[in-house]
Amino acid sequence: MPPTTTAPARSRVLTGDTPTSTGLHLGHYVGSLENRLRMQDEHDCYFLIANVHAFTTLADKPDDIRANTLGIVKDWLAVGLDPDRSTFVLQSEVPAIAELTFLFAMLIPFNKVMRNPTLKTEIESKGLGDSYPFGFPMYAVGQCADILAFRPEWVPVGEDQEAHIELCRDVALKFNQVYAGVGNRVPPEEHVKAGGVFPIPKARIGRVARLVGTDGVQKMSKSLNNAIFLYDTEKQVQKKINGIVTGRASATSPIDPANALIQYAEAFLPRERADAIKADYAAGKEVMDGHVKAEVGAAVNALLAPIRARRAELETPDGERRVLSVIRDGVRKANRLAEETLAMAKKAMRIDFVVRTIST
Ligand code: TRP
Repeated sequence: MPPTTTAPARSRVLTGDTPTSTGLHLGHYVGSLENRLRMQDEHDCYFLIANVHAFTTLADKPDDIRANTLGIVKDWLAVGLDPDRSTFVLQSEVPAIAELTFLFAMLIPFNKVMRNPTLKTEIESKGLGDSYPFGFPMYAVGQCADILAFRPEWVPVGEDQEAHIELCRDVALKFNQVYAGVGNRVPPEEHVKAGGVFPIPKARIGRVARLVGTDGVQKMSKSLNNAIFLYDTEKQVQKKINGIVTGRASATSPIDPANALIQYAEAFLPRERADAIKADYAAGKEVMDGHVKAEVGAAVNALLAPIRARRAELETPDGERRVLSVIRDGVRKANRLAEETLAMAKKAMRIDFVVRTIST
């Protein structure tokens, strides 16, 4: 037989960000963006802007959500996500996602959603109390649809998203079993072979699963005011790092290895250099926190300098036009795949009465 010339189909990847802030921060970078940059060479990547989800906490701020949406696309382009190789998906323009959300909601016990630890943490950290809208817990179901609409194999996310990916796997397993006749004992990786509509996706956690904020306590997050943003100026970055409290009594006192300064040294300095700094602190050598802060600040700024420059280019009328056209092209490509998935799901559910096409 002649050697085959067709490359094997690239496996699909889907992940996304919610536009609740004007831009992404270092936690996003080491938790997910870095993985995305690596994965877009070898995989068919879909990157989703969860703009509908942003309304779960910002329903009265549509202008902010719009600006944040554009900001996230700018950040993606600035870090090097490439719309020619990957597909940028604007959630609100992919109707299959909303439809699958409703269908999946029938397969997930209400109490299971309400027990989701990621939602619980968010309710607490954002001080939502008991006045959050119905749509807030529903976003967990929506996220299953965000993912499954694209039938991916991998979902690169930060550790905080693991509970959502678990829920998504449960929904996919249940859907395949209930509607596509996949047996209870078929292992997840064989679901498609056994006739399932959905592959059972797997989370891929980033190099730094959970980056601590500059407060040294909570996860880095815009709502907690402890974030270093990708678009922060050089001065702002250094100032935020200088503001880290190390809590040492003197220059020879030890440092808590969980301190934000140590975590950032580990995340942004070369491994040997971070190890050497930790060893000096541990040995009670004289270490000036200010020197370490300057070194970590310089490393972060070296990483961010090209990103900042590219983002600035996008803050022009030409840049805005580019962003809008990237969004439009992405929506077209995304709908092609998501509509195919929806048709497969409806067929499995015996509700395939009408064939439709979306024109955009
Ligand atoms: N909830 C995710 C976050 O806050 C964003 C998101 C929405 C997402 N839909 C997704 C991530 C689908 C991965 C897959 O970061």
